[in-house]
Amino acid sequence: MLKRILWIVGLVVFALALVGCGSGGKEAPAAEAEKSSAETVSAEQVQALFDKGACGSCHKIEGINGAVGTVGPDLCAVGEEVQEGEETLADVIEEIVDPNKTITPGYPAGVMPTTFGDLYTQEELELMAKYLAQLSCKE
Ligand code: HEC
Repeated sequence: MLKRILWIVGLVVFALALVGCGSGGKEAPAAEAEKSSAETVSAEQVQALFDKGACGSCHKIEGINGAVGTVGPDLCAVGEEVQEGEETLADVIEEIVDPNKTITPGYPAGVMPTTFGDLYTQEELELMAKYLAQLSCKE
């Protein structure tokens, strides 16, 4: 009799363990996907923002339609600097709203408009900075 009870208890524990594993296994990938989509900014999300400031008339911006300008630097360099820890997102936003504070070597000062702080909300600036931070100059 005791042996039989122990056997049933064992079965229940085993069944619970199976259920636990099953649901845990299902939740993990979904949670991960949610996290990465929150961190990644797609080109569709920022195309209109870059269009609004005509950024692409002066800058090459990977993934943005019509952004083939050569007056200013290819903005892939911004991505490399952020990924290498030389710049923060706040630095990138500053380069957009106050472009004459630091001049990219080899490019003219006083050419990039200084009105973007008025044209964009802080949220829009963050979205653009995040997009630029994802870029890479490597093919
Ligand atoms: C009329 C041309 C022009 C327009 C329009 C323009 N830029 Fe620029 N931009 C420049 C030039 C020239 C430089 C390099 C000199 C400097 O640092 O100011 C520059 C520099 C930058 C830098 C620093 C790049 C680096 O490698 O450090 C960023 C970031 C930037 N621009 C983003 C933008 C964004 C975003 C927009 C649109 C909201 C924009 N620019 C619109 C001409 C322009």
